[in-house]
Amino acid sequence: MTNMLIVMFGMIISCYILIGISEARLTIGFYDKTCPDAESIVGGFVRDATEFNPQVPAFLLRLHFHDCFVQGCDGSILIDNGPISEKEAPAHQGLRGFDVIEDAKAQLEFVCPGVVSCADIVAIAARDAVAFSFGPIYKVETGRRDGFVSNKTLADKMPDFRDSIQLLKRKFFEKGLNDKDLVVLSDLVIMYSW
Ligand SMILES: *[C@@H]1O[C@H](CO)[C@@H](O)[C@H](O)[C@H]1NC(C)=O
Repeated sequence: MTNMLIVMFGMIISCYILIGISEARLTIGFYDKTCPDAESIVGGFVRDATEFNPQVPAFLLRLHFHDCFVQGCDGSILIDNGPISEKEAPAHQGLRGFDVIEDAKAQLEFVCPGVVSCADIVAIAARDAVAFSFGPIYKVETGRRDGFVSNKTLADKMPDFRDSIQLLKRKFFEKGLNDKDLVVLSDLVIMYSW
């Protein structure tokens, strides 16, 4: 009985530790100490690219959405893994804006090597893209780790413009998104899916 209690208590404690870690991982200003200019550097590249091509904000927001929909926001959409790469999946065709992310990453590697994840760069760039497009300004939590898996079969559940509304609703619901999110994001899904 006592042993049982100790085991249960141990489980509860380890769950708390796990929850604590997973909650602590993402924070506003994760790079404030380790790379204080990280967000402004990314913002600078987004602004410059947008001045050059006004479509860039749409590319970056869509890139973020596609990255997050498959295995979470882990930067896996950026991985070049040959023909099996996630980015080769039919659902990801027409994605653009990779160059903005890569330019920002190169500069960040120069300023603070090995600190800022690609997944965070994608998330920050999307936030700035929305802000530069007179959309809502939101704070973005950072501290994502980059994933190492890139497999195009994982993108099979991406929403597709040929999907029925019921199927789209289900795909969004499985990701914790609701009908309103579907309507808001559908412009991107439908307009840029070819
Ligand atoms: C990609 O994912 C599929 C489905 O899970 C799996 O069958 C396949 O072996 C994976 N390919 C690689 C190279 O990991």
